[in-house]
Amino acid sequence: MKQTDVNNINVECTDKLAQETIQKMIAEAICARKNSYAPYSNYQVGAALLTADGQIITGCNIENAAYGPSNCAERTAFFKAVSEGIRDFRAIAIVGSPKGDVLMQYAYPCGVCRQVMMEFCSPSDFQIIVAQAEEDYRIMTLMELLPEGFGPENLH
Ligand code: THU
Repeated sequence: MKQTDVNNINVECTDKLAQETIQKMIAEAICARKNSYAPYSNYQVGAALLTADGQIITGCNIENAAYGPSNCAERTAFFKAVSEGIRDFRAIAIVGSPKGDVLMQYAYPCGVCRQVMMEFCSPSDFQIIVAQAEEDYRIMTLMELLPEGFGPENLH
């Protein structure tokens, strides 16, 4: 099934992400990373969250002089989406590296962001894409990155 995202670009909506969807998400994450506010760590991160209905919601890391209030790119994207009433997600693309245009590592999500994903996503279905370029990426499920995670199901 084809859906239209916020930028009117068609993205696939099947269980396996289409190559063009993955590359579009990575491109959006790279673009979002340009808004990173990271004057303390100089480590810039961008994320692009794919919703169940094919929208892409982006986020960047936002640091703070008091350090503690800093927010990761992934959680920025999740909180933007949830605050707009969106709670169904399929995948997230993440790009992160020290300041500059060159992506020199795969930026896996921190433990806190994995836990936030656990709140809203199916561990076996939600896909996490870490990328160094549109053509250079790895994909894992949340289950692989947070095995035996604690989540909403535990409280039911
Ligand atoms: N950061 C993220 O945005 N996502 C992660 O999953 C790991 C870390 C940010 C937080 C901080 O602004 C900078 O990277 C260095 O830790």
